[in-house]
Amino acid sequence: MSCPFASPSATLAELAPLAGPLPDAYPEEINRRYRSIEDPALVRRILLRPEDFTPANALDTAIDLEPAALRILAAQRFSLPPVLASAGGKEHLAVRRVVARFFSPAKVAAQAGPIAERVAGICAGLAEDYRGGAQVDLAQRLADVIPPEVMARLTGVPIPPAAELKRWSQDSLELFWGWPDARRQVELAASAAQFHAWLDTSVAEAVARDDANLYAALHHAGVDPARIRSLGYFLTIAGQETTAMLIATALRTALHEGRWEQCAQSEQATAELVGQVLAQASSVPTWRRRVAADVELDGEQFAAGEQLVLKLSGGVLGEEGDDSLAFGFGIHRCLGAGLARMETEVVLASAARALPGLKPAGAEPDWMHLLSFQAPQTVWSTQPAAEMAA
Ligand code: HEM
Repeated sequence: MSCPFASPSATLAELAPLAGPLPDAYPEEINRRYRSIEDPALVRRILLRPEDFTPANALDTAIDLEPAALRILAAQRFSLPPVLASAGGKEHLAVRRVVARFFSPAKVAAQAGPIAERVAGICAGLAEDYRGGAQVDLAQRLADVIPPEVMARLTGVPIPPAAELKRWSQDSLELFWGWPDARRQVELAASAAQFHAWLDTSVAEAVARDDANLYAALHHAGVDPARIRSLGYFLTIAGQETTAMLIATALRTALHEGRWEQCAQSEQATAELVGQVLAQASSVPTWRRRVAADVELDGEQFAAGEQLVLKLSGGVLGEEGDDSLAFGFGIHRCLGAGLARMETEVVLASAARALPGLKPAGAEPDWMHLLSFQAPQTVWSTQPAAEMAA
């Protein structure tokens, strides 16, 4: 959580919960289970050795779940078999090749125009609200809206209705990357089971439709339904919630650091702001690996079975403005890196152009954080009357 006494000019490094030393931000049960690796050079070397440091724990729950939660998941036959982010070897590469086709640079670039138009449309509606004296939460009204629409267009697969999507995504993030108590686990498991059931049906329908959508392409590549569902589960979170969180952080930073007008005027200023957010306070500032066998690397000993949490943003990377690790590194590097960066830049620049003179409403927002995710929870904004377009 952010410091309640933070001044309006607090920096991202001060505000983002995972920007500082990781053990300081995690509860004891996480620190007992995970070894934090924060030296960027060592993180890079680990990510380049997926055989020794496997991504098999990418979709594990961060803590052991209690029997009551496990029973709810079992009743739904909930399972996330290894695929893509949590798989290795030839199987990983075969699936990665299929998914990458849907997010090629040309397909991503073609989304910039439609995103800018959609943001302009949303902002026209928001301008009415500001005119009526309302304060607007841009995290909810803008950041949350764009990523699911873009994913649906690029993949051709169904996306749950907005309210369910938000609840299921946030609940699954907390279930897999949080440290919920026993009672909360039961609620989260019930929500995850609902999402799983919805995915079951939508994967079957998309495969049967066979209209060149992502799930049909995976089916033709020989990926079984359980793995397609597992991939759908990951992509819904990875492709949308993380991007919505990055957009919210960028909007917050432009408003609270007085850089809104610059973003309206200069593409370079917008790109620099997004690069800074990725370096200092990315929405996915860590990622996990498991040590396959005893190994020494850069003079450090790693024991078989040890679980690592690798810092990808903040700390030294933030101080040096280095965003080169923000989307991972090596053969598991994020397939949505170009999309997420472009989407965030276009949303920020288009909103800044459409809503001149926007100001933050109220104090710095609180931030949420889990093992591998962080973002401001709200981005309240207001438009002084003098700034409103006629
Ligand atoms: C702000 C937004 C995003 C951030 C910060 C982010 C970050 C990451 C990170 C850190 C990884 C793990 C890399 C590793 O294991 O070495 C990853 C993997 C992945 N991401 Fe993203 N991601 C974002 C958005 C997206 C989007 C929009 C997509 C949609 C295609 C996506 C798809 C994936 C996939 C498929 C993988 C697994 C790749 C593999 O295992 O081969 N991500 N992402």
